[in-house]
Amino acid sequence: MMGDDDPDLQLTPAERRRKMEAFDTYFLALIARDTASGQDGILNRMRQMTFEGATVDTPTLLVNLAAFMIATVETTQQAFSTMIVALADHPAEFEKLRQNRTLMPSAVKEILRWSTPIKHLRRTAVVDTVLGGQKIAAGDKVVAWFEAANRDPDTWPDADTFRIDRYEMRGCPAHLAFSAGVHYCLGWRYGEAEVAILLGAVLDHLPDIHLAGPPVRQRSNFVASYKRLPVAFTPA
Ligand code: HEM
Repeated sequence: MMGDDDPDLQLTPAERRRKMEAFDTYFLALIARDTASGQDGILNRMRQMTFEGATVDTPTLLVNLAAFMIATVETTQQAFSTMIVALADHPAEFEKLRQNRTLMPSAVKEILRWSTPIKHLRRTAVVDTVLGGQKIAAGDKVVAWFEAANRDPDTWPDADTFRIDRYEMRGCPAHLAFSAGVHYCLGWRYGEAEVAILLGAVLDHLPDIHLAGPPVRQRSNFVASYKRLPVAFTPA
């Protein structure tokens, strides 16, 4: 679903259809299971959700589940891969964290700023405004580049430096990896917790993890992903 821009990750329309059908079949089975058992889980909650007074139909539910999968899985996975590359490129920064685990909340934020798993999203202006000297009229479509915002030298003079303790700084500006405003990431707390748990586990159990070959970026305008990231480690 996320590989469209990369020549190595192309699917034929038939392959794509097969995969989407497999996805739908899998989720329909999970929904049937939870409906039968009455389990109060996320699938049942989503099945019962209403939009403008009506329950959503099954195709709409399935599209939302696909979006939900991307929102939960792709993002955290990209933050995690970028964290591994950052670990290899900035061992001294991670050593600071190893010595002082209270830096973890700051480390998680810096990893999210650094990785910015979702590069951009589009907004529609609701009022005429001027932003960065550009006139924007109500109704204009505007692309918000979280990736650029997270490396904005006007916000952080050393934006291109990876600093594990950056968010220990009093008044350090928030990163925009989870976006901003009313359409903020719903799972941000969960995403942060996952990155913290993964990073803690890497420091505890894979202390010598290192790159075993060059990381290869996925070509994408939308996600900051790696398609190849060979690593090696000695199990603790
Ligand atoms: C590092 C991890 C994550 C990052 C960087 C991330 C980033 C984002 C971004 C940029 C948006 C778009 C907001 C906008 O439209 O401007 C978003 C939306 C969303 N995210 Fe996350 N996310 C992460 C993890 C998660 C997790 C773990 C979940 C669920 C458990 C989740 C659920 C969602 C949902 C449901 C939306 C759509 C919200 C809506 O439509 O109002 N995300 N996320």
